[in-house]
Amino acid sequence: MTTPAHVAIIMDGNGRWAKARGLPRLAGHRAGVEALRQSVKTASKLGIAWLTVYAFSSENWSRPQSEVSDLLGLLKLFIRRDLAELHRSGVRVRVIGEREDLQPDIRGLLDEAESLTVGNRALNLVIAFNYGGRDEIVRAMRKIGADVEAGRIAPASITPETISDALDTSGIPDPDLVIRTSGEMRLSNFLLWQAAYSELIFLPCFWPDFTPEQFEDALRQFSVRERRFGGRIERDVVSSSA
Ligand code: FPP
Repeated sequence: MTTPAHVAIIMDGNGRWAKARGLPRLAGHRAGVEALRQSVKTASKLGIAWLTVYAFSSENWSRPQSEVSDLLGLLKLFIRRDLAELHRSGVRVRVIGEREDLQPDIRGLLDEAESLTVGNRALNLVIAFNYGGRDEIVRAMRKIGADVEAGRIAPASITPETISDALDTSGIPDPDLVIRTSGEMRLSNFLLWQAAYSELIFLPCFWPDFTPEQFEDALRQFSVRERRFGGRIERDVVSSSA
């Protein structure tokens, strides 16, 4: 079975999971954190090198203030409670998204998670927080624009690599597989540039119900997909020329 090097997950459906049980949305997000813990362990066990999770989008600020503060609180708790364990397990944490505007305590925790785990090699956990694909591309364009303005690069020398290198995910391979739970079939501003050739798997279950077995099953589905990256696979070439 081909194991994807990089799996990215849109952890969707916490609210509906809670609603179906007559619980407050916060209970759904808490159960979502537990599913995240399990998924990090499963990813390590299955030998996935990179796991990216969409924890908070740049659009999530428009949710009611109480839910925003619940989500921020859960992130803080996750880092405070789980960082030591992640570090012991050899997980390197990296955070993508706009960090400038975040509250200093959250910024501090994100910086701490990255610097403590910088030497770890077992699994790279990329947390997309205050992240939006379009916002990331805008910030990258501003950097490249400043380089052009200062005469450091010529417009004609801009390549896809120039853009990849200016994104938050610089140095991170593009995701091979994007999984979204909860039955919604869209990317919702997640890794827009990076997911150009990713395989997409949409699962009907809500995120808190995502189990290690479902994770393994998604990897099995991935391993039988034929990836062409815009080209043709050998079999097509043979049959069309025959
Ligand atoms: C989508 O569910 C999920 C989110 C907006 C956030 C994902 C967050 C977690 C899994 C928990 C927090 C983890 C960290 C590390 C902060 P939804 O609320 O959109 O669900 P719904 O579509 O059913 O309403």
